[in-house]
Amino acid sequence: MDMDAIIEALGGAAQVQTLLGVGPSAVSNYRARGQFPEYARIRIWQALKARGITVDPETLSVEPSGQANPIASSNSTVSPSISPATGLATVSIPQSPRILLIISGGIAAYKSLELIRRIKDKGWHIRCIMTASAEQFITPLSVSALSGETTYTELFSLTDEAEMGHIRLAREADAIVIAPATANIMAKMAYGFADDLATTVLLATDAPTLIAPAMNPFMWAHPATQANQRQLKIRGVSFVGPDSGDMACGEDGAGRLAEIPQIINAISRILPGNGRLNGKTALVTSGPTHEPIDRVRYIANRSSGKQGHAIAAALARQGAKVTLISGPVDIPPPAGVHVVAVETAQDMLTASLAAMPVDIAICAAAVGDFSVVNSGVNSGANSGANSAAHKIKKSDTGDAPQLFLQQNPDILATIADHKMRPRLVIGFAAETDDVVNYAIAKRLRKKADWILANDVGQDEQPVFGSDFNMVHLVTENGVEPWSEMSKHDLADQLVSRIAKEISA
Ligand code: C5P
Repeated sequence: MDMDAIIEALGGAAQVQTLLGVGPSAVSNYRARGQFPEYARIRIWQALKARGITVDPETLSVEPSGQANPIASSNSTVSPSISPATGLATVSIPQSPRILLIISGGIAAYKSLELIRRIKDKGWHIRCIMTASAEQFITPLSVSALSGETTYTELFSLTDEAEMGHIRLAREADAIVIAPATANIMAKMAYGFADDLATTVLLATDAPTLIAPAMNPFMWAHPATQANQRQLKIRGVSFVGPDSGDMACGEDGAGRLAEIPQIINAISRILPGNGRLNGKTALVTSGPTHEPIDRVRYIANRSSGKQGHAIAAALARQGAKVTLISGPVDIPPPAGVHVVAVETAQDMLTASLAAMPVDIAICAAAVGDFSVVNSGVNSGANSGANSAAHKIKKSDTGDAPQLFLQQNPDILATIADHKMRPRLVIGFAAETDDVVNYAIAKRLRKKADWILANDVGQDEQPVFGSDFNMVHLVTENGVEPWSEMSKHDLADQLVSRIAKEISA
């Protein structure tokens, strides 16, 4: 059956539009391409079946060759199977990514109509929310006509709440895109306002979020907007644009909505499981270790875990299956990663080896170099124990206890020298002086592929606990200075390099 025959069999283009929830131009696009988008194929297969037309199920899962079945696709894996329980044909439906597009007010709002078309072309499912000011520029009707779905505008609409509460809207999105995003919605997001449907949904979601700002260049450059952007980036929100150029308001500068293909690419990058590291596995160590002295005291390095956690999250966003082995930290575990909580360096090593084999290992933890062999307190009563079983008491004489230390295993070096060595082994080097030279030596000594060297000796710009970082990437090819950026951006940049390296 060719494309036209299928559309005819389904009752014509209008019926296909209703079936797929698309507008007339989408159906003409499908005709022109000779192919329906992936998400539509199962609906078509079912609708044909309901009309007594059985398309060979096999053709739904094979690559089209020449004029062959137009509803097959290169990456479709849809194929009905017979349920042993019911004897009926069941179909495993590949879930197409669900995008929630928030359109805020601004002259660029009309460009969101084109964005909706391109999102549908990708075969992604789309729902839209419009803010009240967006409605001054485009109508919910035109948005619905293109998205093929109800457009949501009101927080307190009874129908919406009954049929589709804001929590469901937030939960049923694989990614949230705000395009165009005004300075106002960015400010509300940065401060956690929830005074309309869009901002309430944004506060109720943990889905990856992308902002495509569009505003007057002065508004974009204003310190308040810039501070809000930094704040949102720190929280892991992604940005695309704004571009520079002539503005609708007659001014020139940074503030134009990014081009639609750029926004589509940025959405692809944040969609979970849609990334460049699909099918790859990774382990990340993060945070400090605590090496006990007695039941209440420990030795630790300074580390918030922010950088390691951001890297684990960025790897997961690119589709990698990530095990995050974390020492004690005060930050929440990132979404979509398997977290193993450990305390000591020895525990971290054991958990790291248990997570192998992996394709990528990133040792970002500030592992304690020493653990307490015994807490030889005055009497030496604890001699032989690894740490004192009871709280060590102060002595009346004022003599301080002596701690005996042993060197901890080096996790990075152990992984890099392991018979199951990951394809890429990456470490960090926090130094207070001669940062790059120590890092070069460390890369060779520990047999790591890459070392990210950061200077932790600059008092005016502390790295520990900060949301920003500045590193040098040391590889066998040399040393690359990276500019200062948020730990989330650094994680994304590193993961993008990893993806390039792994696919090379
Ligand atoms: O030797 P140094 O602590 O400076 O090395 C830093 C790098 O080595 C970091 O990547 C850190 O996570 C890793 N490391 C480790 N196990 C240790 C000490 C450091 O994995 N015991």
